[in-house]
Amino acid sequence: MLGIESSCDETGVALYETASGLLAHALHSQIALHDEYGGVVPELASRDHIRRLLGLVRTVMSEAHAALESVDAVAYTQGPGLAGALLVGASFANGLAYGLRVPAIGIHHLEGHLLSPLLAPDAPPFPFVALLVSGGHTQLMKVHEVARYELLGETADDAAGEAFDKTAKLLGLPYPGGPALARLAEEGRPGRFSLPRPMIASDTLDFSFSGLKTAVVTALAALKGEDPTHEHQTWADLAAEFQAAVVEVLVAKCSAAMDRTGLDTLVVAGGVGANRQLRAALEQAALRLGFRVHFPPVEYCTDNGAMIALAGAFRLERGMISQTQAPRSHGFSVRPRWDLDAPV
Ligand code: KG4
Ligand code: ZN
Repeated sequence: MLGIESSCDETGVALYETASGLLAHALHSQIALHDEYGGVVPELASRDHIRRLLGLVRTVMSEAHAALESVDAVAYTQGPGLAGALLVGASFANGLAYGLRVPAIGIHHLEGHLLSPLLAPDAPPFPFVALLVSGGHTQLMKVHEVARYELLGETADDAAGEAFDKTAKLLGLPYPGGPALARLAEEGRPGRFSLPRPMIASDTLDFSFSGLKTAVVTALAALKGEDPTHEHQTWADLAAEFQAAVVEVLVAKCSAAMDRTGLDTLVVAGGVGANRQLRAALEQAALRLGFRVHFPPVEYCTDNGAMIALAGAFRLERGMISQTQAPRSHGFSVRPRWDLDAPV
């Protein structure tokens, strides 16, 4: 299964084989391209995907010592994401699949993230609870089986990664802010600031992170006039408190989800899953409450082609590749907005 990811600012390609696992993968990140704009510029993203895709496919095939003719199907991210960026991957995948006379399989980006922990050698068994924390989504899902996902709770406003990115911007950190803020937080001292833990006590499994960013704006405004020589430490302290607030809320909701579903396995997916403090806090909660927690290998937390190839392989194996995915159909579409639990 050749997997192609192009939903946002990363071009990812991977080759996966059910019997042997991941054979090769390659990724091109557009961070440097978008850096000067402080965020992703959709048109630049699409054009860069066009430039990178063919080279990445060649790299992956040569690293795997495989010929294109040995590919049984091509999986690509069909949505959600940036329409133009998705169209690049979708056109490429459908063209290649048509030429090879194999199916092209459209994959939901979040399904890729959800299943990414199964790329690890100690893959968890179904069913499990998944915490999906990316730049665009924050959701708790009950994963019964491949393609059977039940939404338990989600954010009412900003996603956790988005809150990290926006707060990082307020602190003058470079794009993408999440990892930079997490690094700064490591130098921070707890106790100086006190930010809210939004919705931590609500009896739903829903989240809200936009108020946290506003609280950071208020805290920064209150600092005006302070001695600027301590600015770095002040911002590190604020970053640490912000990270602690997000992590506490995520851990509390995950713990509640484990309790409510009665399941014993939690899987964490999406870019924020790379956060070290979140990992440590969830591991502690798991020990305390008696559940197991699985993280994808860090390189598969953020967007990548491997998770798309894996989801495609699962679907092909189970015969779940209907509609637009027939080998000789000329039409295909992308779905920039697409709910994971919506009928396909
Ligand atoms: O899953 P992903 O690569 O892309 C989306 O589909 O959104 O997630 C990217 C998000 C960004 O918001 C980024 O800032 C955040 O994940 N992120 C982190 C860390 N690494 C990536 N947030 C906090 N701590 C990190 N170490
Ligand atoms: Zn993603």
